[in-house]
This record gives sequence, structure tokens and C-alpha cells, in this order.
Amino acid sequence: MLDWTDRHYRYFARLISKHAVLYTEMITTGALIHGDRERYLQFNTQESPLALQLGGSHPKELAICAKMAEEMGYDEVNLNVGCPSDRVQNNMIGACLMGHPELVADCIDAMQQAVSIPVTVKHRIGIDDQDSYAELHHFVKTIAATGCSTFIVHARKAILQGLSPKENREIPPLKYDVAYQLKKDFPELEIIINGGIKTINECLEHVNHLDGVMVGREAYQNPWLLNQVDQSLYGAPDSTLSRHQVLEEMIPYIEEELNNGTYLGHITRHILGIFHSMPGGRKFRRYISENAHKPGATIDVLKNAIKLVTQEQAAALEARATNHN
Ligand SMILES: Cc1cc2nc3c(=O)[nH]c(=O)nc-3n(C[C@H](O)[C@H](O)[C@H](O)COP(=O)(O)O)c2cc1C
Repeated sequence: MLDWTDRHYRYFARLISKHAVLYTEMITTGALIHGDRERYLQFNTQESPLALQLGGSHPKELAICAKMAEEMGYDEVNLNVGCPSDRVQNNMIGACLMGHPELVADCIDAMQQAVSIPVTVKHRIGIDDQDSYAELHHFVKTIAATGCSTFIVHARKAILQGLSPKENREIPPLKYDVAYQLKKDFPELEIIINGGIKTINECLEHVNHLDGVMVGREAYQNPWLLNQVDQSLYGAPDSTLSRHQVLEEMIPYIEEELNNGTYLGHITRHILGIFHSMPGGRKFRRYISENAHKPGATIDVLKNAIKLVTQEQAAALEARATNHN
């Protein structure tokens, strides 16, 4: 997610779940080919399994960028066919490509020829008035003919004129049954559902019908959701860190980043939700929000915020014990 799932968020998320596949922000082929490629592609090896999401519609350029991803050590490369923003539409990037299934197939084919890591697609269930199931079926069938076998389906259509990207994540209704139908019609494909999923129970319900779930906003705003993923969805033993342990592990990472010139607020903004709905959660968020952006802010901002939560949690425990007595 643009501006959200940067390498700092991903490092943090990986401390919470060892198995969830993490995705970069969408990076356009133009940015990679003409811009500061090192900066865009940089990641910490601990983030793996990690997918690079590309935005573009020129098969050759996408193939070049997919190759860069593979050489850098990414585990998957994903093509964005879901972003509805005007800015990307003008460059034939994102959801508008749903109207051009043959072009998307050419893009995916070129990417697959260039790399041996999986090439996947993230798309909507339709755009504007091209929103019949027959059109979606044709889209998936056309791309699957290239050998692409993983489709991440944001289960609402995009309206390309008149809605902002934010409204396009909220207003068109979610139609999970459409993604379920795709799985019935293409049982050999891996169909992963996305859109509006907020709890592990919802994830478990979806995986009764298809192959996986992608969670966006909730995994960012309430990152502790990821804590249940390894055990509930991957059947891994429950050996995850506590919230406080995760933050302790963030400290040396942040110190190193500060030494390299990263600004504290660029990392701490991603961890504000770790105590979501917990005693002290608001104080933690407020303290960091008020202090991390100050010039010269150091790791002490995080350490002080952790102390505030610890105090608040101790007070909550004491109050509970008093009520019991
Ligand atoms: C701030 C923000 C940035 C996003 N950027 C991207 C992006 O770069 N690529 C993408 O495929 N989807 C992007 N999305 C959409 C999400 O990946 C996801 O499809 C959408 O929010 C619905 O899923 P959710 O309800 O789990 O968040 C973005 C969403 C938000 C809120």
C-alpha cells in the first residue's frame, strides 16, 4: 500500500508474523527504470517472503523490472490491475487495465519469460460498466492462459471517473461471492481474496471457499492482527513475540536507521497501532505522534512511549485486582 507498506512497516510486520507474505507499495516501471532504483527496491532480507508490486503496462519494461526484482531477491512479483487513481490511469496503470485483458496477458507473459519467481496479478472484479461476471471470467481466463496461476481479487469493482481512490475502497459494494465463483470456475488457480477483511475468523471463513486472504488496512491500523496469522492460517506453533518484545526488537533496527540518516517519525508512524484497543494504546500513539517529528528526536521517544504503556497497563491490572477484592 502506497506510503504504508514501506520497508520499515514490513520489518515491523515481519516481527509479528513469520509467514504472512508481505507486499511492497506499488512501484511504477518508470520509477524503477528512470529513477533511484536502489532506493525503491531496497529491503531487509528478514522481510522475506516478500513480493514486489509493479505498476505498468509495457511488457518489455515490466519484464526488465521483474528481472530486477528477482535479482534483488524478491520472492514474487505482482502486477497491479486494481489501483483506480487518475494519476495512474493516465499512464495506463492499475484498474483501467481490466479493460485490456490481452495487454495484461502480454505483460504477464513477458514478466514470466524474464523470471523464474512467481508472477501474480492483483485486480478488481470489474470497472465502471464492465462489471459482468462474464467479463471478469474472460479477464481471468485470458491471463491464466499465460500460465499465471495466482490472482488476488479485490472483491469490489472500481469506478474510474468520479470516485477518489479512498472512495473506491469504500463505496463500491464488496462481492465476496464473485471471488468464490472464480474459484469454482478455475479450481486449478490460486484465488486470494481481498477487501474489508478485519479478523482472523473472517480469514478462516474465506479460506473455506478459496486459497488465501490479503488484508490491507486492518493489518496496518491494527497490526497485532498479524499475530494470529502464523498459528491460525499456517498451522505454525504459537511462538510469536509479545507486543513489548516486538518493540524491543524494533529498537536496534531504529537505532541503526537513525544512524543512517532515517528520520524517526518515518519509522514510528507505522507502529502507532500496536496497542490498538489496549490500555495505554492511545497514550502510546499520542506520545509518539507528538514527539517523533521533533528535530533531533531520538529512540528515547519510543522508549518513553513504551514506559507510558507499561505504567498504564500496571494501573489497569491494579484496578482490576482492587475490583476483585
Ligand atoms: C493508503 C493505501 C494505499 C494503497 N496502495 C495500494 C498499492 O500500492 N497497491 C495495491 O494493490 N493496493 C493498494 N491499496 C489497496 C489495498 O491493497 C486493498 O486492496 C484495499 O485497501 C482493500 O483491502 P482492505 O480492506 O483489506 O484494506 C492501498 C490502500 C490504502 C488504504
